[in-house]
Amino acid sequence: MKTIGIIAALPQEIAELLEKMGSQMTQQTIGMRTFYIGEIQGKKCVIVLARIGKVAASATCTTLIQTFGVTEIIFTGLAGAVSQAVNIGDIVIGTEFCQHDMNAEPLFPRHEIPLLGRDVFQSDVALNRQLQRSTEQFLSGESQFSLVRMIAPTAIADFGLKDIKIHHGLIVSGDQFISSDEAVGELQQRFPTALCTEMEGAAIAQICYEYGVSFAVLRVISDKANHSASHDFGRFLNEVAAFVSSGVLLNYLGN
Ligand code: ADE
Repeated sequence: MKTIGIIAALPQEIAELLEKMGSQMTQQTIGMRTFYIGEIQGKKCVIVLARIGKVAASATCTTLIQTFGVTEIIFTGLAGAVSQAVNIGDIVIGTEFCQHDMNAEPLFPRHEIPLLGRDVFQSDVALNRQLQRSTEQFLSGESQFSLVRMIAPTAIADFGLKDIKIHHGLIVSGDQFISSDEAVGELQQRFPTALCTEMEGAAIAQICYEYGVSFAVLRVISDKANHSASHDFGRFLNEVAAFVSSGVLLNYLGN
């Protein structure tokens, strides 16, 4: 039976999943992280909070693979929009990942991971397709209304948030919270096809590539990586992020 590793950035995102694991759940603390081991809807899972940044994500991911033998990894969390086509509230399923802060020039080309000879890593096509279905299921019916209600009324007025779109494409990651027009503009120039930016996805992508493990990253857009990013991020942090991540993941585990 496969074991699914679920990594989240926030405790709120896993609270509902942990409840679903019930009394059979066991815990193990390794490297200052607690791994929750159990089953949800008959699927064997290990759930863990990574904390923030590429080092935290890489360490968590490696433990999931080496100690718990997970056969696939799903990461959920928030991201800042880079593309003009991506709005707050939208969902991004990353198909490609690049570490935007990797720069070993002039020894290696910019963004290339030294001695690995690669700058872009791909997530698992089949897993992305399944996550797309689970997200569509989540967004259809009552739940989308609940989501919009939660951030309404100001979010609707501020951001024109009506239709939540699901995007697929490039995510760029780095150990930086991007929060200025200059910084996001610079990312847009360097990565014309990037949909969003965050601080973990491309690290997980590299580890999963090195170990040959399938993975997927699902991000909810909390901000536009500009001057109001930290304010917008805070607004999404509690209710919305948790609601979307656990909703989509429960659909995924139930399918
Ligand atoms: N996660 C959510 N918003 C972000 C941003 N603006 N920069 C980096 N990571 C993020």
